[in-house]
Amino acid sequence: MNFNAEGILENGGKLYTETANRNPVYGEDIIRIRGKYYREWDPKRSKLSAAIRKNLRFFPANSKSSILYLGASTGTTVSHLSDICRNGKINAVEKAYEPFSKLLKLSESRNNIYPILEDALKIEKYSHFIDKPEILYQDIAQRNQAQIFNEVSSHFKSIESGILIVKVRAVTSRRGNEDILKSQLEGIENYRVKQLVDLSPYSIANYLAVLS
Ligand SMILES: C[S@@+](CC[C@H](N)C(=O)[O-])C[C@H]1O[C@@H](n2cnc3c(N)ncnc32)[C@H](O)[C@@H]1O
Repeated sequence: MNFNAEGILENGGKLYTETANRNPVYGEDIIRIRGKYYREWDPKRSKLSAAIRKNLRFFPANSKSSILYLGASTGTTVSHLSDICRNGKINAVEKAYEPFSKLLKLSESRNNIYPILEDALKIEKYSHFIDKPEILYQDIAQRNQAQIFNEVSSHFKSIESGILIVKVRAVTSRRGNEDILKSQLEGIENYRVKQLVDLSPYSIANYLAVLS
């Protein structure tokens, strides 16, 4: 791992995000270095952290980024993006009520997370809450992953880049990983793959694609 991006620290072989909020979100360690606080970013709990450990070269987010995040769950990865995009915002869409209730609680202690309880494909129900997102982050285990990415990214013309987690086993168990991955990526419209990262051993049969 040799990674350098605003708001992210590599220390002792572990990754951290610099945080203004000293409460752990999912039991992670918090350390203090030269008066600043950092939350450990667990690669087994967050695919974005796993991708960095697997030599992600293109990291589109910075302190001012505006992210539309689909499949936010309880907010594990969202919380680290909230640290990194401290002057930006994360619109976090989650359709299941149980994880959403934790996401909602998380958003109460952070001023840049805007949680939305909705199905990502029902764009007309949430698009009016969202102002010019620049990055689309999608982590949804459904057969139509590419379709969701295409429909949402073509709706929001401001989206410049994407991070797509391709979950091959959610598509079918009847074909090989490489074959499914290829067909999913070929199904992406209007964006090209800048980098593809196999997330194993942290996350099996999942890949992270950086799109622009
Ligand atoms: C693997 S979890 C996401 C983990 C999260 N991205 C993280 O790194 O912390 C996938 C989530 O996507 C949600 N989901 C699945 N289909 C969805 C849809 N159509 N719209 C919104 N959320 C969806 C699920 O309820 C689940 O919470």
